This record gives sequence, structure tokens and C-alpha cells, in this order.
Amino acid sequence: MIISLGCDHIVTDTKMQLSDYLKSKGHKVIDNGTYDMTRTHYPIYGKKTAEKVVSGEADLGVVLCGTGVGISASADKVPGTRVALVRDVTTAKYAKEQLNANIIAVGGRITGLHLIQAIVDAFIEAEYKPTPENQALIAKIDALNHEAENQTGNDHFFDEFLEKWDRGEYHD
Ligand code: RB5
Repeated sequence: MIISLGCDHIVTDTKMQLSDYLKSKGHKVIDNGTYDMTRTHYPIYGKKTAEKVVSGEADLGVVLCGTGVGISASADKVPGTRVALVRDVTTAKYAKEQLNANIIAVGGRITGLHLIQAIVDAFIEAEYKPTPENQALIAKIDALNHEAENQTGNDHFFDEFLEKWDRGEYHD
């Protein structure tokens, strides 16, 4: 399978270990960054990773930040994604089998590497089980996307915020 991977600077090390693991299992990885531990912003990598899945370049996506919360929320805003923040194998299977999740998020500072690997394996191996009930639910969830605000392909969406960051206007 082709897996789109993305992370923020907090968990680049874990993302690289996961990437190596996936490649060792025969998968192809598209690594959307970030590539080092320099302070950056998880919405950038949530968006990039999600767009590779929605465009069909990748089959599935995995996003990581410290908790998984910020990057899962970001990836889920890209129309066409179905993102699940998971911390266990059962939830990862459920997300794919019942809600046809195409991206999972994990917290690289919450969940250990071996469990992350098992979670990602379960997510990849699980198959969506379409039933009239879950198809109706997925259609309702998808209808919540606001197409008018679709920023797919807009590589300058974060420019204003990055310029503010460079000017030192953010303090955290
Ligand atoms: C750092 O930006 C940290 O907030 C992030 O990695 C994540 O934990 C957010 O959910």
C-alpha cells in the first residue's frame, strides 16, 4: 500500500521509525514532513498528508503530533478525509471497518512505538464493511464538510500565519 505520513516537530523521530517499519513491511511511504525537530505547525502537515490521500496518490494516511489531537483535527478539515484519533488497535479496526476511515492520527508522545506499529498494521489490514447503516452515517458525516472553504491545493493557506510567526507575534 501507499501510506501518506506527516508529523510535527515533536515526533519526527517517531514518524521516521514508523516510516522505516512500514517500508520494511513492503509499503511505499510518502513522507510529507516535517523532517527535523525545528519548531513548526502541525496544521501544515495535517493538510499535506490528507491531500495525498484525498487525491488518490496514497491509499491511506497516518498523522502524528505530540498528542495526536492537533494534527487529527487539522487533517479532518480537508474535504474527503475521514480521520480517527486512535490509541489502541480495537479503535483503529473500528474506524476502518465501520466508518471507512482513510487517515488515523496517533499521539507520538502518548502512545509507544510498538503499539503505534500494531495500530497502523491493524488499520491497514482492516477492511471497510459497508452496511446500509454505516453508509448512511458516513454520508451524514461527509455532508458536514464545507466545500466553499475547501483549501485543497492552496499551498499559501498558512502564509499569513507563518509571516506572523517569523515576525515574532506568537509566544508559546
Ligand atoms: C506542539 O505543537 C504540540 O501542541 C503538538 O505536538 C500536539 O501535541 C497537539 O495536539
